[in-house]
Amino acid sequence: MMSAEIYLQTINWQKRLRREIPILKEICEQKNTTQKQIRILDLGCGPGKHLTELAKYFPKAELVGIDLSSEMIQLAQKLLISFDWAISSQINFHAGDFFSQSPSNFGKFDFIYSLGNSILLMLEDHKPLELFSRINQFLAPNGLLFFQILNNSKPRKGYVPSPICHTQEGDNFYTIKRFDPNLHQNQMEVEFVEVYQKKNRSKPEVKAHKSFWPLISNSEIAKILSSFNLEILETWGSYNKIPFSSSKHDSLLLLAQKRNKNSNFLY
Ligand SMILES: C[S@@+](CC[C@H](N)C(=O)[O-])C[C@H]1O[C@@H](n2cnc3c(N)ncnc32)[C@H](O)[C@@H]1O
Repeated sequence: MMSAEIYLQTINWQKRLRREIPILKEICEQKNTTQKQIRILDLGCGPGKHLTELAKYFPKAELVGIDLSSEMIQLAQKLLISFDWAISSQINFHAGDFFSQSPSNFGKFDFIYSLGNSILLMLEDHKPLELFSRINQFLAPNGLLFFQILNNSKPRKGYVPSPICHTQEGDNFYTIKRFDPNLHQNQMEVEFVEVYQKKNRSKPEVKAHKSFWPLISNSEIAKILSSFNLEILETWGSYNKIPFSSSKHDSLLLLAQKRNKNSNFLY
């Protein structure tokens, strides 16, 4: 994972939040949140941008962000200082591995979400069953789960460059991600290439690091969720809520609800 500061600067947050917050807000509203004190968890929250936006709409909500990277959490806390007291007092950021957290420390959540492929990063070291079992433990009865994950039925291939941005030091910086789904069975090799072009220097500095993301099929996700009585309510292929098509969309967006009875969802 690249440094938290670089992650913050590489992402076009305006674009992302414009497309991602409305759907998160709409899901929260299903819980009648203007009246109720709802508890929201952002899993793998990174710099915490989504939580600070959501807090503006739900002044009674209690929002928690967990991230493995203490650097990300320090950045999230630093960014939170610029918000007014009402917002900053609603949000708590915790550095730590989600797999070693317990609901007895955090309580249960009405809404858990995970964006930016955090789920895939978590599955680098853990089995999907373990992940969803833990998420299930953190969900309150009838709690909602929403996550984004790469669509395994339509694996990306090749190079995906991010637009050039400027780091605080005044360098030009851009990342290239190379996806190679064929290299390893059940794994996609993702290579992050970071390129810095320092001012007044012709030769760019290149850093590359590889990550191996597990390939989890949509039907496997559906099977695991249903084994925990997490009923799939909707699957979208984009943040403007276009119904998911496994042959068309790069990402799967999935909304599920914790039920007491067995789910009969067929993918
Ligand atoms: C690509 S970032 C996404 C951040 C943010 N959700 C977003 O949408 O921009 C993925 C984040 O997942 C976090 N992560 C990976 N494994 C984790 C784990 N086991 N527990 C908590 N966070 C984890 C990483 O530290 C990283 O900040």
